[in-house]
Amino acid sequence: MRGGQPRYTVDLSIATAYMILEAHEQGLGTCWLGSFDENMVKKALNIPGDVRVVAITPLGYSAESPPQKSRKRLEDIISYDRW
Ligand SMILES: Cc1cc2nc3c(=O)[nH]c(=O)nc-3n(C[C@H](O)[C@H](O)[C@H](O)COP(=O)(O)O)c2cc1C
Repeated sequence: MRGGQPRYTVDLSIATAYMILEAHEQGLGTCWLGSFDENMVKKALNIPGDVRVVAITPLGYSAESPPQKSRKRLEDIISYDRW
């Protein structure tokens, strides 16, 4: 892409984020996994050599329902007009 990011990582991230949101909406537990050995994953799942694994998302029924964590305030993470 013009900004220098590979298109497939952007497209993959958008699609996976929506999958995660929809899974949550349907009562399933999931999350984003980005810390893994890509070669080991490809070997375990028989994924062709020319295919990249950008992210993994597990899917299932949560065994626990932890309370909502406190979050940063929007004012602390959003910049308007300039940094
Ligand atoms: C880019 C990215 C990569 C992540 N990779 C992992 C991972 O490899 N393993 C893991 O346990 N959590 C990983 N996480 C965290 C979980 O997907 C999830 O966001 C987190 O457990 C939720 O924590 P929170 O409730 O504090 O947001 C990753 C999150 C992001 C945004």
